[in-house]
Amino acid sequence: MNLFAERNSRIDSENAFKVGPHIVRVEQQNGEVIKLNLGEPDFAVPSHIKDEIKRQLDLDNTKYCDPKGLLSLREAICSQINQTRGLQTSPEHIVVFPGGKPPIGLAQQVYCEPGDEVIYPSPGFPIYELFIRYVGAVPVPLHLEETANFTFSPDELAAKITPKTKLIYLNFPSNPTGAVVTGRQLEEYAEVILEHCRPDMRVFSDEIYENIIFDGQQHYSISSVKDMAGKTIIASGFSKTYSWTGGRIGYAVFPTVEEADIFKKLNINYFSCVPPYNQEAAREALENPLSKQAVQKMVDTFESRRNLIWSQISKIPGISCQKPGGAFYLFPNISAVCENLDLINKHQRLSPEEQSSPANLFQMFSLYEHQVAVLDRNSFGQIGADGRHFLRLSIAAEQSVLEEGVRRIKAAAGDVSGLDKFLKKRPDLNLF
Ligand SMILES: Cc1ncc(COP(=O)(O)O)c(C=O)c1O
Repeated sequence: MNLFAERNSRIDSENAFKVGPHIVRVEQQNGEVIKLNLGEPDFAVPSHIKDEIKRQLDLDNTKYCDPKGLLSLREAICSQINQTRGLQTSPEHIVVFPGGKPPIGLAQQVYCEPGDEVIYPSPGFPIYELFIRYVGAVPVPLHLEETANFTFSPDELAAKITPKTKLIYLNFPSNPTGAVVTGRQLEEYAEVILEHCRPDMRVFSDEIYENIIFDGQQHYSISSVKDMAGKTIIASGFSKTYSWTGGRIGYAVFPTVEEADIFKKLNINYFSCVPPYNQEAAREALENPLSKQAVQKMVDTFESRRNLIWSQISKIPGISCQKPGGAFYLFPNISAVCENLDLINKHQRLSPEEQSSPANLFQMFSLYEHQVAVLDRNSFGQIGADGRHFLRLSIAAEQSVLEEGVRRIKAAAGDVSGLDKFLKKRPDLNLF
């Protein structure tokens, strides 16, 4: 007799959320942990947005509302999308969701039959991979190589496409690598998609970090490439740009109204609607000129932290790191640290239940013995990740905290005897 349906065994949870209880435990035992694991900006929501939330509450804008999203917000999104992507979409093509996350999994439910193939970046936001088997589709990871600054070549994309390819996820600027792409690269990807993919497929372009870009570069969307708007779902939201992860406002722009209305139907079935007072504040975020300054200030801060922490982390013996062009993450390669600490052999000698990955072992060792929390490569897609030893560090913390975090990682990277002691104690070797 089984209480739970079989499909539950085909979905896992995001490691970013699993590490929390470990941090609490370490803090109870050993004092403060430096948290470089967080995927949320460490700034307050800009005050004009907070004021609008309060104003809307005072107006009693607290009831059920349009499941597709308030028209006022969809109009504001529409005009911003048309301006930045050079499109001519309409509010009817847009659906508002509780965050940027829901349309990722819902897209697989809407478009994929069992056996259909889904191409997604790996390392990538874990939800892309986590949902695929849940809906009975087939995961096809597109591995992003450090040597290509965590982008991929058109040939690598072409090699993954088959007649069963139904969805292709793209995510630039990327979580977890911070990689960005040029307009030319997107044109090359589009050429491959237009030439090799069946017509009834979709590109899901997750552009949630669109406004966090460094070095004077600009954001490009594959939807702007000729003939791609009719194939591309643009997904974005307010969590990262406005440091507003708790507001839970995201959206997707669909190629057809018919598709948008299917997602609206799912919204009705799952959660009815997104809180209207937050939606009005999201509209304010898009329309108020003060937002531009607030976002620029945050991005400038991220950029100077990126410069500093990238140069410091790159100096740690055994660590190399690509310089990210956007988002707020660094993705250092710790292969040589794994060798210096003999982590690969030590990991192999663990029992099968304790095994995860050498980088995960380093993550747990760093947390328990050096009080610094990071995430490992396998937290961002597990299929085909063996032998790839990376960490993700978030720079969403004050500079002094980040610098202390780097010092602790450096200490952990050279602490052979500490690692042996940790392996003997074995509090929680495996995050999974
Ligand atoms: C690439 C990517 N897409 C989507 C999301 C989801 O964002 P939200 O918090 O708005 O659901 C995240 C959050 O970390 C992300 O990194």
